[in-house]
Amino acid sequence: MSNPDHPSPSTVASTRAYWDLLAERYQRENRIATDRFHYGPLQPDDGVLRLLPDTVVGLRCLEVGCGAGQNSIALARRGARCTALDISEAQIAHGRRLADEAGVEVDWRTGPMERLPDLVEGPFDLIHSAYAVPFTEDPAAMVRTMGGLLGPGGTMILVVGHPLYAGEWLEVDADERGVFLPDYFHPPSDRRTSDDGRHDVCCRFYPVSTWFDWLREAGLTVDRLVEPRPEADAGACAYESEEWRESLEALQKVPMVLVFRAVKANAPHRSP
Ligand SMILES: C[S@@+](CC[C@H](N)C(=O)[O-])C[C@H]1O[C@@H](n2cnc3c(N)ncnc32)[C@H](O)[C@@H]1O
Repeated sequence: MSNPDHPSPSTVASTRAYWDLLAERYQRENRIATDRFHYGPLQPDDGVLRLLPDTVVGLRCLEVGCGAGQNSIALARRGARCTALDISEAQIAHGRRLADEAGVEVDWRTGPMERLPDLVEGPFDLIHSAYAVPFTEDPAAMVRTMGGLLGPGGTMILVVGHPLYAGEWLEVDADERGVFLPDYFHPPSDRRTSDDGRHDVCCRFYPVSTWFDWLREAGLTVDRLVEPRPEADAGACAYESEEWRESLEALQKVPMVLVFRAVKANAPHRSP
C-alpha cells in the first residue's frame, strides 16, 4: 500500500493540470514513433543501444510516466503484455488513439506514480520509464517501489536527466562555449510553469552514483549504464523534435540523459 496522503491531493491535481495542459503541444511538437523503443529526444533508439531483452513476446511490461505510451505500444507490437501509467488523462488519450491506430492493446492506468502499488498489479518482467521519475519528489522511494514490482529475473530500464544537463550553457570566449554546473553533487532543479502560469512541476537531477545506489538499494544490479550521444541521423531516432534538433551541436557535447538497465536476481534456490 502507498501513503494515501502523499503526494497531497492539491499536488496531484496541480501536477495533473500541468501535464494535461501541455499534452497536445507535447505530442504535436515531438514526433515519437510507436514501432521503435526510444530513450528520449534525439537519443539513439533501441535498435542502436540494444538494452531490451532479445524477445519480449509474452513479457509483462509496465511503463511509468508513459505520456502517450509510445514505448508500450512498440513493445505490444512485438508481443509484450503492456500496462502503462501516467498522471495525465490527456496524455493517455493520445496513447489510446495511437494504440488503436497500431492495432494493439495496452492496459492504460491513470494516477500518480507515487501510488503505483495501488494502481497496478505486479509482478512485471520489464519495468521501463523515460524521463518521468525525475519529476517525483522522492525518486529513491519510487525506484524502490518499482523494484518491488519486478519479478525475479526481471529488468528495469530507467531513463533520467543527466546531471551535467542541469548545467547552464555559457559563452566563455568569442568561440568557446561550455557548461557551467555550480555543484555536481547538488545539481539545480528545473522548475517548469504551465503556459497559464498556474501550475508548476519540478524536474530533479542527481549525481550518477546516487541513481546507481538507489537501484542497488532496491535490490537490483545495474548491468548497463549508457550516456547516449544524440544522433545527427534523424533516421536513428525514434523521438524527433525540430526544437531539440536546432540545438544538436550543443546537445552532442554533453549527455542529456542517463540510461540504466538493472536486473533483479532470480530467487535463490532453497534446499528442501
Ligand atoms: C517528460 S514526460 C515523458 C513522457 C514519456 N515517458 C515520453 O518519453 O514521451 C513526463 C511524463 O511523466 C508524467 N508524470 C509526471 N509526474 C507524474 C506523476 N507523479 N505520476 C505519474 N506520471 C507523472 C507526465 O504526465 C508526463 O507524461
